[in-house]
Amino acid sequence: MLNIVIFGPPGAGKGTQSELIIDKYKLVHLSTGDILRNEIANKTTLGIEAQKIIEKGELVSDDIVIGMVKNKIEANIEGNGFIFDGFPRTTEQAEALDRLLEENNTSISVMISLDVDEDELVKRLLKRAEEQGRKDDTIDVIRNRIKVYNEVTSHVCNYYSKKGKYCPVNGTGTIDEIFERITAVIDGAETKRPCCCG
Ligand code: AP5
Ligand code: MG
Repeated sequence: MLNIVIFGPPGAGKGTQSELIIDKYKLVHLSTGDILRNEIANKTTLGIEAQKIIEKGELVSDDIVIGMVKNKIEANIEGNGFIFDGFPRTTEQAEALDRLLEENNTSISVMISLDVDEDELVKRLLKRAEEQGRKDDTIDVIRNRIKVYNEVTSHVCNYYSKKGKYCPVNGTGTIDEIFERITAVIDGAETKRPCCCG
């Protein structure tokens, strides 16, 4: 199985690049943000609870997201693999993900971290606000999401770095240019050739 974590701050292009990766490698897309927004749209108990947290730009609890990921992995374990988008966001989530995959006799192949500077992130997300109206794409919430990323989520890089699976990729440029950089990393990881991973 090919299991990829696509990582990076809000607006880095995780969702955009996931779509291209899924198409090329036939993976199951597991976006915790998309699952939570679906729960909100369906007005489930979980969705009503999560909405308040998401609209402040804070993190939903580890227990809730780990439970969602467990269900999705178990439902798709017969496939080619997964792309994890927006998960893990804490070291606890990263540890839980390793345990869940190990229980299913598989593991993370590579963690791709998209590097984009803050001005570009804000520009992209404010543009998306105009185009799509996502509730958490307001300037104050964007700033808080970036703060939470810097203070909490960015440490997840260390977790994968220690395992030799952390691959930073320049996330600035055209969507196609970035995809080319990503496929070079994935193809290197698949054939076990040494890549940039530290
Ligand atoms: P989530 O949905 O994961 O949002 P996020 O991490 O803030 O990231 P985004 O989806 O905003 O950005 P992206 O990196 O996917 O970029 P995209 O491709 O869309 O999480 C939302 C919330 O849910 C969290 O804040 C939290 O509350 C909760 N949550 C989710 N997972 C959780 C977890 N594991 N634990 C706890 N809480 C969790 O691109 C952005 C825009 O830029 C698009 O308009 C796109 O068209 C454009 N774009 C993309 N690439 C380029 C490019 N190369 N050049 C120019 N524009 C580009
Ligand atoms: Mg996204």
